[in-house]
Order: sequence, then C-alpha cells, then structure tokens
Amino acid sequence: MTEPGTSAWPPAPIPTDRLVLRESEARDRAAFVELFASPEVGTYIGGARPRDEVERAVPEVPGRRPGCFVVERDGTAIGVITLDPRGAERRGHVRPEAGEAELGYLFLPEAWGHGYAFEACAAALDWFSGARPGEPVVLSTQTANDRAMRLAAKLGFTEVERFEEYGAEQWFGVRTPATQA
Ligand SMILES: CC(C)(COP(=O)(O)OP(=O)(O)OC[C@H]1O[C@@H](n2cnc3c(N)ncnc32)[C@H](O)[C@@H]1OP(=O)(O)O)[C@@H](O)C(=O)NCCC(=O)NCCS
Repeated sequence: MTEPGTSAWPPAPIPTDRLVLRESEARDRAAFVELFASPEVGTYIGGARPRDEVERAVPEVPGRRPGCFVVERDGTAIGVITLDPRGAERRGHVRPEAGEAELGYLFLPEAWGHGYAFEACAAALDWFSGARPGEPVVLSTQTANDRAMRLAAKLGFTEVERFEEYGAEQWFGVRTPATQA
C-alpha cells in the first residue's frame, strides 16, 4: 500500500477473538514458503511453484511491506492478507485514477474451514477504514474459486463486473460503506 496509508504502517498488532494480525517477521518464512509451494493454495492463483525454487526466492523476512499482514494463530503464521494498490494496467477499477486498495488472502490449507480468513479479513478491513476513511476496497478472484467467492460475499463485497484474465473468468467486486449498508 502506498501514500496516505503508509503513514499508518506498521500498525500495532491487531488482535481478534482467535487470531493476531501483525507485520511479518523472520519466523514466518516457512509459512510463506508453504503458501507459495502448496498446490492447493495455488489452484486458482496461477499454480504452485516448485518448492526448491520457492526456498531460493523467498527472502529472510518475506512480506515486510505496507499493507501485508501475517495472520497468526497460537503463535504460528496461518495466512497472509494483503491490501495493495491495484495496478492501472489491470482490468477492473472503480476509480478513474485506479490504484484502489485491493484485498488479497492466502491461508494454509489446514487453516481453511474454521472462519479464520473471514475473521482476519474483517479485522484488516476495519483497520483500513480507520486508516483511509470512506475509501473503497476492491477484490478479484476466479469465479471457480468457491471459497474465495463465499468469503468475498461474507465480507460485504458486491459484484462490479466479470471478465477474462489469465485464461479464466474473474469476478471483480468492491466494498464501500454503501455496499455494506
Ligand atoms: C480463500 C480462502 C482464504 C478461504 O478460506 P476459508 O477457510 O474457506 O474461509 P473462511 O474464513 O470464510 O471460512 C469459512 C468456512 O469456515 C467454516 N467455519 C467453521 N467455524 C467457523 C466459525 N467459527 N466462524 C465462521 N466460519 C466457520 C464455515 O462453515 C466455512 O466452511 P465451508 O466453506 O466448508 O462452508 C482459502 O481457501 C485460501 O487461502 N485459498 C487459497 C488462496 C486463494 O485462492 N486466495 C484467493 C485469491 S483471490
């Protein structure tokens, strides 16, 4: 994330009922490697990369940048949430100047099916609405990604459009104070 939000970064760790959202640390590296190398995680996001390649590519402290939250449960990273500006070259925008904050979520398969991603994303979106009041958040996911589609709906995203990208149908949605009303 850039510009105004940067001044709010990093936030103090954000606790939820079962989780903590915080900035990345060196001890999270194994979880990042697993997220990028897991075929299950990669199914709808371009596929997993070979583990040895990921091991070489992932830095000592991965994901340490504005807008990247590690999600921790009982002291261990279980997922990553990102709020990054959506590039102007991409299809799917709600503002003429583009650069909208885009929500991304990646959780380890063993953490699916417990509502952790919802709990963590809701906290990240709360944080964002405090850091940048009134700004929209956008999201895109393959329409075939049922879990991601259900999560987007539960978080209050509504459809703007669907289009083809990366050889698959994509759902592009937005969340604003109005879409949650
Ligand atoms: C997308 C992703 C984060 C969704 O994870 P998830 O665990 O299904 O999402 P949620 O946190 O919303 O959990 C919902 C599930 O938890 C269950 N659940 C169990 N206990 C719960 C609780 N206390 N509260 C809420 N839900 C609970 C729900 O019933 C639901 O299960 P179901 O889908 O079998 O019906 C995960 O599948 C993922 O990381 N995928 C790979 C990466 C990816 O594709 N990301 C999207 C890119 S756009």
